[in-house]
Amino acid sequence: MPSSTFFFFFLFSLFPYLSICKSTIEPCSVSDSCNAMVGYTLYTDLKVAEVASLFQIDPIALLTANAIDIAFPDVENHILPTRLFLKIPVLCSCSEGIRKSVSTHYKTRPSDTLSYIADTVFSSLVSADQIRNANGISDPSVLDVGRALLIPLPCTCFNSTDNSLPAVYLSYVVRSGDTVAGIAAQYSTTSSDIMTVNAMGSPTVKAGDIIAVPLPACASGFPRYAYDHRLIVANGSYAITASHCVQCSCGPGNLNLYCTPSSLAVSCSSMQCRGSNLILGNVTAQPTSAGCNVTSCTYGGYVNGTILTTLSTSLQPRCPASHQFPPLIAPPTVVSRDISFGPSPAPSPLEGGGTTTPKPSTPGAVTLPGLAPANGPSGSTSDGPLLVNPSSCNVNVLFLFLLVRLLV
Ligand SMILES: *[C@@H]1O[C@H](CO)[C@@H](O)[C@H](O)[C@H]1NC(C)=O
Ligand SMILES: *[C@@H]1O[C@H](CO)[C@@H](O)[C@H](O)[C@H]1NC(C)=O
Ligand SMILES: *[C@@H]1O[C@H](CO)[C@@H](O)[C@H](O)[C@H]1NC(C)=O
Ligand SMILES: *[C@@H]1O[C@H](CO)[C@@H](O)[C@H](O)[C@H]1NC(C)=O
Ligand SMILES: *[C@@H]1O[C@H](CO)[C@@H](O)[C@H](O)[C@H]1NC(C)=O
Repeated sequence: MPSSTFFFFFLFSLFPYLSICKSTIEPCSVSDSCNAMVGYTLYTDLKVAEVASLFQIDPIALLTANAIDIAFPDVENHILPTRLFLKIPVLCSCSEGIRKSVSTHYKTRPSDTLSYIADTVFSSLVSADQIRNANGISDPSVLDVGRALLIPLPCTCFNSTDNSLPAVYLSYVVRSGDTVAGIAAQYSTTSSDIMTVNAMGSPTVKAGDIIAVPLPACASGFPRYAYDHRLIVANGSYAITASHCVQCSCGPGNLNLYCTPSSLAVSCSSMQCRGSNLILGNVTAQPTSAGCNVTSCTYGGYVNGTILTTLSTSLQPRCPASHQFPPLIAPPTVVSRDISFGPSPAPSPLEGGGTTTPKPSTPGAVTLPGLAPANGPSGSTSDGPLLVNPSSCNVNVLFLFLLVRLLV
């Protein structure tokens, strides 16, 4: 089936006794992966290193994804406050026919229950039933302390594009009070993009829904054999790559990836462009009668321990201004507002309808679950959002997926 070229918006229940929760699922067939993010709300005060360890990611990756200054003294031991919202970078794989992140394991502690782990520790990014199924737990009332449970996390790739432009997808758990327009405004996207990506018939979301939010991003375009060829950096944030030697940023002025030697660089292979005295990130500009002669030394990927560099020269109408970096923030100590996209968020992005006017599709028309705008869907159709209300999200997904397989 032409999976990965289309997707469905599944509706299912978080708990039989609560309202139905929805989650966007992206079917996939090839065992590739992409970089994605999940939106996580801290359930207690945690050190930077503890949050990173919870998701088994590099603390530096956690910091840079949220544009937090890695040069802050002892930043890894900095305590982040309860209820802080963070974007967690995850590797999004293809597992059992759908996109999910399967690299997080959680070691159970005394008095843990599956619903505590799902709803509290992982802030409803996963359901108790999904953890149960992923780990073949027959009796959830008996959890062995110290057992490493696989925590499948929601994620989507959608070819890392949105409307043919580079995008990183954030799996966002809707909170009470959220609106589609508010979420769109907060993440520099539009309501209609969110609706299209999630195949929503109307711009309505409920607390507990998990939607895919496309974040505008800078894509790398490194060769496939580069270790970091998937590198993609969301607007307003940073990434560290090449064994911590190279730091790349995206925005705010344009969406061209800009890489320099990182401040962490200790023992790194040469970052000088061959045949010049320029190093990564250096740009020289020489006004000439024909225009501005711009020479730049750019990062080309990490291959077998070597930092690839590219020297390029071009004649441009005007000399470029010096590079602007996305602003960094100090690690938060209080929750005043979310660390959102862009460290100096526009006033009240969430309140009062936001700045982006939603342009909902025809009211009442249930849009067919559509086709990922960027995925070049090829002749696949499906039958509108499927509504069911069984007792378990995960069972639903599998059930629906099988059903859809039969239908397609
Ligand atoms: C080249 O880049 C390095 C490190 O980013 C910087 O220290 C140096 O001043 C730059 N040189 C030029 C000529 O831009
Ligand atoms: C542009 O600058 C580069 C390096 O500074 C130099 O090698 C090249 O000859 C210049 N090209 C022109 C057209 O001035
Ligand atoms: C990577 O480096 C190792 C050791 O230097 C070498 O044996 C291997 O062929 C290299 N691989 C590639 C793809 O360059
Ligand atoms: C990138 O972010 C900056 C500020 O954070 C914003 O002004 C700009 O519009 C964003 N660019 C895109 C393409 O979303
Ligand atoms: C996926 O994205 C790449 C660019 O990143 C683009 O060239 C390609 O056409 C896209 N594929 C589909 C199926 O949209």
